Parts: sequence; C-alpha cells; structure tokens
Amino acid sequence: MKKVLIISTSPRSNSNSEALAKAFAKGAEEAGHETELISLRGKTVNFCRGCFVCQEKLRCVIRDDADEICRKALHADVLVFATPIYYYEMSGQLKTLLDRLNPLFPSDYAFRDVYLLTAAAEDEESVPQRAISGLEGWVACFERARLAGTVFMGGVTAAGEQPAHPALAQAAALGQEL
Ligand SMILES: Cc1cc2nc3c(=O)[nH]c(=O)nc-3n(C[C@H](O)[C@H](O)[C@H](O)COP(=O)(O)O)c2cc1C
Repeated sequence: MKKVLIISTSPRSNSNSEALAKAFAKGAEEAGHETELISLRGKTVNFCRGCFVCQEKLRCVIRDDADEICRKALHADVLVFATPIYYYEMSGQLKTLLDRLNPLFPSDYAFRDVYLLTAAAEDEESVPQRAISGLEGWVACFERARLAGTVFMGGVTAAGEQPAHPALAQAAALGQEL
C-alpha cells in the first residue's frame, strides 16, 4: 500500500483538471492505496521568499496552508499534481506551490513517483508540453524521484464540460497501476 497525495490547483469548482485528480484518486483507492486529495481552492499559499531558512530548518518561515501540504508531501510515496493549462504553462498556483515545497529539497522525502494531470481548451498534443517540462525541472531536483506519468484532457473550456472524456479513464488507470 502506498500513500498517495493528490494536489488539485484549479481555482474553479467542478474543475476539469480536478476531475482528473478525482479519477486518479478513485483508481488508486480501488487498488488499495491510501489516498488524499487536497484542493488549493480557498487555501492560502504565499510566494516563496527565497530566504533559504528552509534548507537548514526543513520548514518554511511562512505559516500558511503550504506548510501543512509540505509536511504531507514529505511522507507521501506518490505525488500527483493537477493543473489547468494557463498560457501554455502550468497554473501560477501550481508553480507557487512547487516553490513552497523547497523544504523538501534537503529532507528525507519518501516520494519516488510524481504524476502531472492537465486540462486545457485546446486539444493539440503540444498544449501541456511546457507544463510537463516545468514539472520535469522540479522533479530533476529530487534525485530519488521521477516523473512517472502524465495525463492531458484537451478540448475542455467550461468547468465540468466533458464528464466522459477519455482522459478520465487514463487517469483512473494510472491510479490503479501504482
Ligand atoms: C488565464 C487562463 C489562461 C488559459 N490559457 C490557455 C492556453 O494557453 N491554452 C488552452 O488550451 N487553454 C487555456 N485556458 C483554458 C483552460 O485551460 C481550460 O478552461 C481548462 O479546462 C481549465 O481547467 P480547470 O477546469 O481545471 O480549471 C486558459 C484559461 C485561463 C483562465
């Protein structure tokens, strides 16, 4: 059994990328894994101050919601990030959170597999590539981890637009295969 932490970063309720997150969670639960899905909606995640105190204290000086998310991420075996594509990139919410996970860098983090789930209005394969590349940069800083998989839900603009999109089954399958 693995501990799976899934972080949904869309500000919208009934979000498309969060639907992917829920599908991944369902698949992982069906496979018997311990799963937690956190949405950043309504949470406060401030910008990293770049002070590097976290590299000595293993904890950020800012007391906001990223502090607890970071503690949970430390003990998770699997990290899953879900994001809308904004301007052909990951959302600012996700980038801000990744920076705030900087206390993990010198820590004895448990995660080995990292997944990225994306949703966008356009459907071309190239649309999520910069977001994937951005997360690859983050993962590259964690030598014991790898980007284990990605799922892209293309062609969705309004929230909850395609409840039967094939990407949902792909996300569920990834969760089941953990
Ligand atoms: C600020 C902003 C920028 C966006 N940029 C893109 C884009 O570059 N390419 C695209 O295909 N869709 C873009 N979209 C559309 C969203 O990716 C799309 O609505 C997606 O379904 C949102 O996912 P969510 O429901 O999880 O929030 C953008 C939306 C917003 C609000």
